[in-house]
Amino acid sequence: MNKNQSDVLIIGGGAAGLSLALRLSQDDLNITLLSKTELTEGSSLYAQGGIAAVLDDDDNFAAHIEDTHIAGAGLCKDAAVTKVVEGAPAAINWLIDKGVKFTLVEGREYDGEDSEYHLTREGGHSHRRVIHAKDATGREVATTLEQHVRALPNVTILENHIAIDLITAQKLKGQNKSRCYGAYALNSQSKKVETFAARAVVLASGGASKAYLYTTNPDTSTGDGMAMAWRAGCRIANMEFVQFHPTCLYHPYAKGSLISEAVRGEGGLLRLPNGERFMDKHHEQAELAPRDIVARAIDYEMKKGGHDSVFLDISHRDKEFVLDHFPNIAENCGKYGYDLTAEPVPVVPAAHYTCGGILTDLRGRTDLKRLYAVGESSCTGLHGANRLASNSLLECLVIATEAADDIRARLRKKNKDDIPQLPSWDESQVSDPDERIVVSHNWDEMRRFMWDYVGIVRTDKRLERARNRVELLQDEIIEYYGNFRVSHDLIELRNLATVAQLTIECALTRKESRGLHYTLDYPETRDFASDTILTPNNFVGHAPISDWAAGKD
Ligand code: FAD
Ligand code: SIN
Repeated sequence: MNKNQSDVLIIGGGAAGLSLALRLSQDDLNITLLSKTELTEGSSLYAQGGIAAVLDDDDNFAAHIEDTHIAGAGLCKDAAVTKVVEGAPAAINWLIDKGVKFTLVEGREYDGEDSEYHLTREGGHSHRRVIHAKDATGREVATTLEQHVRALPNVTILENHIAIDLITAQKLKGQNKSRCYGAYALNSQSKKVETFAARAVVLASGGASKAYLYTTNPDTSTGDGMAMAWRAGCRIANMEFVQFHPTCLYHPYAKGSLISEAVRGEGGLLRLPNGERFMDKHHEQAELAPRDIVARAIDYEMKKGGHDSVFLDISHRDKEFVLDHFPNIAENCGKYGYDLTAEPVPVVPAAHYTCGGILTDLRGRTDLKRLYAVGESSCTGLHGANRLASNSLLECLVIATEAADDIRARLRKKNKDDIPQLPSWDESQVSDPDERIVVSHNWDEMRRFMWDYVGIVRTDKRLERARNRVELLQDEIIEYYGNFRVSHDLIELRNLATVAQLTIECALTRKESRGLHYTLDYPETRDFASDTILTPNNFVGHAPISDWAAGKD
């Protein structure tokens, strides 16, 4: 038996990882959950707008499904959309049962199952259907789930443990099965690499928006799970669909401060510096058009007029209303000298969400046996070419439930001792790094060229430039990685370079504009929608997940 052996190893402590741990905890399973910083730090904690779900009698599943397909620009998998949309009410009820306090309709008291929740509206939604906890939904969800998970005796939480690589049968001598056995992780405090064995491993490690200079995401979003899965031989899909959120506060010190789409949902208008509105010229849904359209329109207007930003204006609504609905956003704007209740505030788009990721089926199963991916690190087919607002937390919750069922069923069937003795991490050939500046310099350079060349508007020439740059960086990083002891920053840089490369390859493969991928060289959308699926040289392929492209489970 390995020293650190559990039934399930979950890598990531956001909405996906925590809800999966909680779903699995009812069973007699030992779970280890790794988080590379303190638990819950990740995108989930910062989610503002809310969670999309059909909860109103005037709304219906067909409308939510249709809105998701329209936003996804013809590339969403119907089976994924149906599963997630239809699973939404149960997922919300589960959160309420766990104690999540969503905002009630004004003047109403909590009344158990009869409580009436306020539903806000966001871009691309034909109905009010976004349930929320004021403007800090993610914090309410993540901290509530955290409290439950911390209380579970069968879950071992290891914070400040960053997973480095998966341990697969391919890497072990004498093992010919395509299977995941665990992972290596760096304990950032002891600086030692530890080996974690598990009967099932789940990547719940979030997105990759830190590959861009400007992003709404916290530092954790470095695409670690995607890069680890790719190196382990799993397919990666649709990485060209990087979602840029239209409204991030523009201020030199306001690092990635999102201003929720719900501000536009409650009447916020986008204006040029001279006060003129412009979204009505770009789309019939104006400020509430799908996110790709709004972000592109802002980019266009900024470039056309030479503006540093555009402005978001909700000053025409009552001050009390704005403060009641958006207390945290108003406070944050105030920190930088802007009064959200009284004046337009400057905003720019920023990288926000990775629609592509590790190819999975609707139970979170990847190409590798016993390896699952859930949440933003995965690509289930739900988001297609552009994610509909507030469908992401929802996907974490619904697919985590499915994955938990699948893991439970698989582990029940197998005997407990089917993991070989895993080798320790080998540090015999490496020394302490001599020039740490290499890591920070490469990190900055990559995020800048990704922003400049692989941004909202692309061309083949810009993408080729980015590809050349990333190849040079990859060479340097691989050499550095081979010679020096791993550190948190080096692990992330290596992963970011991989996801940057995968994003560029996907973008170069797509010879059309669709959803979030817009290229001046191919401005038209082709009649036939197809996914971009990248297959690694060491593709495991022995346990191909069922027909993903056909959207079958
Ligand atoms: P995360 O919440 O990012 O969690 C990833 C976890 O993995 C973290 O704990 C991290 O530390 C850990 N991790 C990563 N790599 C490693 C590693 N190598 N080793 C160990 N641990 C690792 N979506 C909505 O649906 N509604 C919203 O209102 C909304 N608002 C948003 C607002 C902001 C500012 C942002 C950034 C995103 C928002 N989103 C929203 C998107 C949504 O929050 C995310 O897509 C979702 O929370 C992702 O959850 P996750 O569990 O997959 O990843
Ligand atoms: C927001 O509140 O605007 C973010 C919602 C999302 O990303 O789904």
